[in-house]
Amino acid sequence: MLNNPGAMEGMLKSDALKGKTIIITGGGTGLGKAMGSYFLKLGANLVITSRKLDVLQRTADEMKAETGGEVLAVACDVRKYEEVENVLKQSIEAFGRVDVLLNNAAGNFISPTERLSANAFSSVIDIVLKGSVNCSLALGKYWIAENIPGNILNIVTTYAFTGSAYVVPSACAKGGVLAMTRSLAVEWGRRGIRTNAIAPGPFPTKGAWERLLPGDMAQKFDFRNRVPLKRVGEHQELANLAAFLVSDFSRYINGEVITIDGGEWLQGAGQFNALEMVSPEMWDAIEKNTKGK
Ligand code: HXC
Ligand code: NAP
Repeated sequence: MLNNPGAMEGMLKSDALKGKTIIITGGGTGLGKAMGSYFLKLGANLVITSRKLDVLQRTADEMKAETGGEVLAVACDVRKYEEVENVLKQSIEAFGRVDVLLNNAAGNFISPTERLSANAFSSVIDIVLKGSVNCSLALGKYWIAENIPGNILNIVTTYAFTGSAYVVPSACAKGGVLAMTRSLAVEWGRRGIRTNAIAPGPFPTKGAWERLLPGDMAQKFDFRNRVPLKRVGEHQELANLAAFLVSDFSRYINGEVITIDGGEWLQGAGQFNALEMVSPEMWDAIEKNTKGK
C-alpha cells in the first residue's frame, strides 16, 4: 500500500481555531470525532451532538482528557427542529456564542432500492437532508439576528454529484445538501456567512463499514482497489482539510465542495481507466497493431 506518513500530522498552527465555538453533529463517533479532536487541539470550544448521550459523554471525556479543551455534549435528533434549537441555546449558554456548524451526522445502509419501504427511504433523507437543513436554518437565523459571520461546513460524498446505485436515499439526500451548500453560499454570503462542503472518499469508520460493507464484504470489495493512490483516507487528512475550511485562513472560500478521495470518483468515471489492467506485453502488441495504421 502506498502511504504518505507526513499526512498524519496536524497542518495548522496550534491556535488556529482559538476562541471559535464549533457545533459538530454526529460528533461522538467516526469522522465527526476525528475532526472534533483536531479542532480542540487548535483551541476551539466544541459542542458535540447526536442521539446517544452516553456515546457523546464518553467521547467528550476522552477529548477533554487528551487536550484539556472545552467540550459540551448535548443529545439531539437532528430530525427534530426543537431539539436543534435546544443545542444552540445550550451552546450559547456554555460558550457565549457559536461560530461554526459542521453538518456531519448521517444515516445510511446498502439496499436495492425496490426492497426499501417508504419509511426506510425517509429515515435516511430525514437524517441527512432534513437534519442538515434544520441545523443550518437554526444557526443561520441566529447568525443573521446577531450579525455574526458564521460558517457552515457540510460533509457530503462524491456520489452527491455522481449518484450511486444501492445507496439511493443517501445519494438523493447528499445531493440535496450539496444544492443547499451552493444556494446558501450566495444567499447568506452577503450576510458574511460562508457555506462549503467536503466530499470524502473512503475513510474507514465503524459506523460506515458495518452498514456499507457488512460481513466479509470489506475483504471482497476492497475500497483500496477503487482508488488510484491504492489506499483509503487517514482521519487526520480529513481533519486537516476540515480545520482549514472552518478557520479564517479559508475566509475567501465560499460555496465550494472539496473532494478528498485519492482520485476515486475519477477512476470510476474515465471511459478508458480500466486499461490499467493491460500488461506491458499487451501494450507492445497493441502498439504494433495500431501504430501508423
Ligand atoms: C433495508 C432498512 C435497513 C436496511 C433500516 N431499514 N435498515 N431497510 N435495509 N439495512 C428500515 C427499517 O426497516 C425501517 O423501515 C426504516 O429503515 C427505519 O429504520 P430504524 O432502524 O427504525 O431507523 P433509525 O433507528 O432512525 O436508524 C436510522 C438508520 C440507522 C439509518 C436505519 O442505520 C442509523 O441509525 N444510522 C446512523 C449511523 C450511520 O448510518 N452511519 C453511516 C454513515 S456512512 P420500516 O418500513 O420497517 O419501518 C455514510 C458514508 C457514505 O454515509 C460513503 C461511504 C464510502
Ligand atoms: P458514523 O460514525 O456512523 O457517524 C454518523 C453519526 O451521525 C453518528 O455519530 C450518529 O450518532 C449520528 N447520527 C445519526 N443519526 C442521527 C440523528 N438523527 N441525529 C443526530 N445525529 C445522528 O459514520 P462516519 O463514517 O463517521 O460518517 C460521518 C460523515 O461522513 C457522514 O456524513 C457520512 O455520510 C460522511 N462520509 C463518510 C465516509 C466514510 O468513508 N466513512 C465517506 C463519505 C462521507 P447517533 O447514532 O448517536 O445519533
